[in-house]
Amino acid sequence: QQHTSPWPYPRLVAHRGGGIMAPENTLAGFRAGVAYGYRAAECDVKLSADNVCFLLHDDTVDRTTNGHGLAAGLSMAQLSQLDAGGWKGAQFAGEALPGFANVAVYCRAQGMLLNVEIKPCPGRDAETGRLVAQEAARLWAGAVVPPLLSSFSVEALHAAQLAEPDLPRAWLVEEIPADWQATLQSLACIALHCDHATLTPQLAAAIKAAGYQLLCYTVNDVARAREIMAWGVDSVCTDRLDVLQPAQWLAE
Ligand code: G3P
Ligand code: MG
Repeated sequence: QQHTSPWPYPRLVAHRGGGIMAPENTLAGFRAGVAYGYRAAECDVKLSADNVCFLLHDDTVDRTTNGHGLAAGLSMAQLSQLDAGGWKGAQFAGEALPGFANVAVYCRAQGMLLNVEIKPCPGRDAETGRLVAQEAARLWAGAVVPPLLSSFSVEALHAAQLAEPDLPRAWLVEEIPADWQATLQSLACIALHCDHATLTPQLAAAIKAAGYQLLCYTVNDVARAREIMAWGVDSVCTDRLDVLQPAQWLAE
């Protein structure tokens, strides 16, 4: 099935579900995004030991759950037992570590656009890219607006491209390298995502002139968001859903 482009994309994207308003990469985060009026969110997706796609940022579960150890060594059944909310506050205790499918169902039901960052466990880049892309295609079957797949891993993006060429892709970089255009072309990406701190007006203009969408992370300040959008940045990924408020943004 040929998907349409997710553009025009919302200008504001909630980082890791709900930014700092809720535990990252949980459904509580996505509910916070909805409550703040967000229409797009980003999350990090990797593979469990038994190849189930689930949400987690780090290589280990230590920082954001009550468990310990490498995520790659845990099955989805084991991951599902973890408390992924208590570290953030007592009101979030018992919040589950979600599977990708749970989040996809919620986002589709809410009309929330999802930027799926493929975040492979070390050494699992290609299989993670392939399986996340296949699962995304299945979960968004029949959707008018597809999810946007992104990754720092060229290997993962290449595997996603081979598996599901029609799903839109973005390459994620901290700093934009000199050969950015060749990499975007080889992966048939529609967008470049970069750290806003490394962007210059000249680079932004060149990327837009070449016909790519440009997203920046992680922008938590209204003035900075406006500054880089004036350079041509299409959207910003933010932790501060309370500061960058979609309703006010549109009204101004
Ligand atoms: O997708 C933008 C951003 O999420 C990339 O950095 O480390 O928060 O996944 P990180
Ligand atoms: Mg991310």
